[in-house]
Amino acid sequence: MNSQPFNPWRLSVAPMLDWTDRHCRYLHRLITRHTRLYTEMVTTGALLHGDVARHLAFNEVEHPLALQLGGSEPADLAVCARLAEQWQYDEVNLNCGCPSERVQRGAFGACLMNEPQLVADGVKAMLDAVSIPITVKHRIGIDRIEEYNFVRDFIGILSHAGCRVFIVHARNAWLKGLSPKENRDIPPLRYETVYRLKKDFPHLTIVLNGGVKTNAEIAQHLAHVDGVMIGRQAYHEPYMMAPWDQLFFNDAHPTPSREAVEQAMVRYCETAIDEHNSWPQIMRHMLGLRHGLPGARRWRQAWSDHRNKHLPVAQVATQIQQLIPTP
Ligand SMILES: Cc1cc2nc3c(=O)[nH]c(=O)nc-3n(C[C@H](O)[C@H](O)[C@H](O)COP(=O)(O)O)c2cc1C
Repeated sequence: MNSQPFNPWRLSVAPMLDWTDRHCRYLHRLITRHTRLYTEMVTTGALLHGDVARHLAFNEVEHPLALQLGGSEPADLAVCARLAEQWQYDEVNLNCGCPSERVQRGAFGACLMNEPQLVADGVKAMLDAVSIPITVKHRIGIDRIEEYNFVRDFIGILSHAGCRVFIVHARNAWLKGLSPKENRDIPPLRYETVYRLKKDFPHLTIVLNGGVKTNAEIAQHLAHVDGVMIGRQAYHEPYMMAPWDQLFFNDAHPTPSREAVEQAMVRYCETAIDEHNSWPQIMRHMLGLRHGLPGARRWRQAWSDHRNKHLPVAQVATQIQQLIPTP
């Protein structure tokens, strides 16, 4: 195994609210060892006033793992970054890309791109507080601002504050009139802008995100930028990650089969079920595991059949195995 020569941000799975919880990350880690994983966005308010353990606890196998924060007050961000370090996260990532109205009312997320100095103060406060990397995830523009200078200056100001890693969702966020979901599809992708950022800031780590679907596309982008972050495709088709360690980290360890992943998730469920998580809550992340294989739909329906939800997970697994034998 030799993953050292590679940039730690070479490949990652995007932070996705309600999707990339710790159970989802456990699943992803069964399939790829080296890909960097991100939590869902956790707001500074939730950490300062809520149940810290519930928001921050994770399984050791999830490393390398970044905590994504939503917030804008430098002092609050610093306290939360300290918590992240205490809980042994490998990175804190600041969300400057989310366009939801709730987030706008809280004055963070994508609207922070209009306040680069405030973000720089937040980054600096976090860097002063901890020794783990502080990174920023953002868009290439806000609303109809398409000038390259806007995103170039945003990165320039943050890099002066000490930020070295930028994850760039290669489309604008339109703050008025589009839902968060539409904001992930409708504003056009402009990969050239991200490539240009890498050319203008060769000393910074620039990670491209948005609309990447295949391993061939990942490889193409890696010719221009330091890393690629994949969101929806990795979630909906998790086994696409099976070749990643070999293809992108030069680590040819044997990859577990889909069946082995499924069995490992059944064993994991038995340890992870608690008052917040029933097994369907955990296994929902696995429903795309057989994507593209014959019988995938039946398998998916069997795992999400509500009539089974009160049965023990191992019993459901056995029933499904009898119903849909492994090909
Ligand atoms: C269900 C869902 C939830 C998301 N939640 C977050 C979030 O909490 N923080 C964030 O920065 N981006 C969030 N995103 C955006 C993704 O991180 C990513 O930037 C976007 O989906 C584009 O990448 P993709 O085309 O590879 O999915 C979310 C996306 C989805 C689909």
